[in-house]
Amino acid sequence: PRITGTASKIKNIHFGNYEIDTWYAAPYPEEYSQNKTLYICEFCLKYMNSEYVSWRHKHPPGDEIYRDGSISVFEVDGRKNFIYCQNLCLLAKLFLGSKTLYYDVEPFLFYVMTEYDEFGCHFVGYFSKEKRPTSPYNVSCILTLPIHQRKGYGNLLIDFSYLLTRAEGRTGSPEKPLSDMGLVSYRNYWRLVLCYILRNQKKPLSVEEISNRTGMTADDIISALEGLQAIVRDPATGAYGLRLDYSAFQMHIDKWEAKAYVKLNPKALVWTPFI
Ligand code: COA
Ligand code: NA
Repeated sequence: PRITGTASKIKNIHFGNYEIDTWYAAPYPEEYSQNKTLYICEFCLKYMNSEYVSWRHKHPPGDEIYRDGSISVFEVDGRKNFIYCQNLCLLAKLFLGSKTLYYDVEPFLFYVMTEYDEFGCHFVGYFSKEKRPTSPYNVSCILTLPIHQRKGYGNLLIDFSYLLTRAEGRTGSPEKPLSDMGLVSYRNYWRLVLCYILRNQKKPLSVEEISNRTGMTADDIISALEGLQAIVRDPATGAYGLRLDYSAFQMHIDKWEAKAYVKLNPKALVWTPFI
């Protein structure tokens, strides 16, 4: 197909029962970029020029590797479900300012989070992840659809990405650069993780131990500790230490838990790392 960049006229997408304003242009083929509204099937992500109701699929392709309550995560292989993953990347580009991949999806796995109701498993958000076992990144791209943002799903996706990383016995970090929204979301997540670990910590604890328990990299742990003003340097010896303000940690946790967002249930993961 011919690719359009800036020539796109798409202003919003029809997605399930929603009409969603788009934020950026995405290179949909020209014959689909000429209308103001693009119709996208919320289940298979196929794009169309007019409304079309499909009764065939009610959830993403791939393997359902997590289910807890109404939340599921499907693992979709960029090689086995090439078209779906390309469509997913195009959809994501509508909300991502930075360049992203659209066509070279085979080296990636896609983790699609859905919420179930009587009509099916509705797309909430996703992240992509390189298959390459030596990659230092545990997330390439992450998105919560705008209609579902600021409800804790981004945090849940991030938490899920680290659950996979721990299952692999590794550490990982999101691919840089992060968008502004990505950065505030990760900073919030990392700070919370450290608050949970440190709020009852009475014995010395190394960055390495925190890394083993969380899957976070040492760099990300240190920047989160700095954000919490929990790292102090002894001016006499130059040695670093932790300054633990238990009530501040508990306050961050209480504030977060008061929002009552959906929590990750690590026991609900049924998964073996990709080889
Ligand atoms: N402004 C300020 N704080 C934000 C924020 C924003 N736009 N988005 C997230 N946060 C912080 C807040 O502390 C938030 O808690 P609160 O809503 O209770 O205040 C916390 O992070 C958790 O946010 P959450 O609701 O879990 O995130 P989300 O579901 O909205 O998803 C992204 C976060 C980054 C996935 C989403 O903004 C997105 O898809 N953005 C477009 C794509 C993108 O930029 N992706 C990252 C680069 S690859
Ligand atoms: Na919110």
